[in-house]
Amino acid sequence: MSDVIDRPIGVFDSGFGGLTVLRSLVEQMPNEDFVYLGDTARAPYGPRTIAEVRRFALEGLDLLVDRGVKALVIACNSASSAVLRDARERYDIPITEVVLPAAGRAVAATRHRRVGVVATESTINSMSYDDAFAIAPQIALTKAACPRFVEFVEAGITGGDELLGVAREYLQPMIDAEVDTLILGCTHYPLLSGVISYVLGNGVTLVSSAESCADATYAHLTQAGLLRHRPREAHHTFLTTGDASDFQGIGRRLLGGFVRDVRQVSLTGSEETPAGR
Ligand code: DGL
Repeated sequence: MSDVIDRPIGVFDSGFGGLTVLRSLVEQMPNEDFVYLGDTARAPYGPRTIAEVRRFALEGLDLLVDRGVKALVIACNSASSAVLRDARERYDIPITEVVLPAAGRAVAATRHRRVGVVATESTINSMSYDDAFAIAPQIALTKAACPRFVEFVEAGITGGDELLGVAREYLQPMIDAEVDTLILGCTHYPLLSGVISYVLGNGVTLVSSAESCADATYAHLTQAGLLRHRPREAHHTFLTTGDASDFQGIGRRLLGGFVRDVRQVSLTGSEETPAGR
């Protein structure tokens, strides 16, 4: 078992949003090595059909499994919504996704049984959150697709009048439904929690899929006896299907200096190009 423990954990996202999950994973599991794959060449996944997201996500997860990861984290709501059941059948390593942990956290947090979820169109259309809340029929769920939020985050915009106007429009159904708990059902959205809290006020608890996913990953690794608990210097690798230098630049801007050692990979071939070549 010890050699399996020493392997890295694979983290998959359509692009950069999963870096918010990675940040929570690194905070909770500082002795683990992570391999992060962002399918930036084909992002965003949000406007795509569920069948397309499923195909792309399985290609990305296959690549991570081929690299020998000991566990998988699907750090993207759109991908989690499209592949969860297939992924559990396809791979025999622990898999954590973002939908069920966030739903569980929201069920525990709500005071008046009124929960909202904001997400991409693909996640909302998949009904994955409706399925996740089927076990809690006493809770009223209000959903809203917020397609432009991803654009703002990737442009590095987290404030200003235009974003505030868009946020007010997207979040109005949550205000009308008097939700007391809101799931940030897209891994980009924790970077907009300032504006979301500003519009909704302190009375609404925000549930970040990043933190709840990291909690669930910790639990899965512990239960499988795969958690590295001895202090060591961890090494993280970043793979992108897009340009490696662009990924490094945007990744650092969004999440700071730990985004380095970025390589470009193809999900249909095996070539790998380091950043700066
Ligand atoms: N990371 C994706 C998610 O959590 C959003 C970005 C995209 O549309 O690709 O749904």
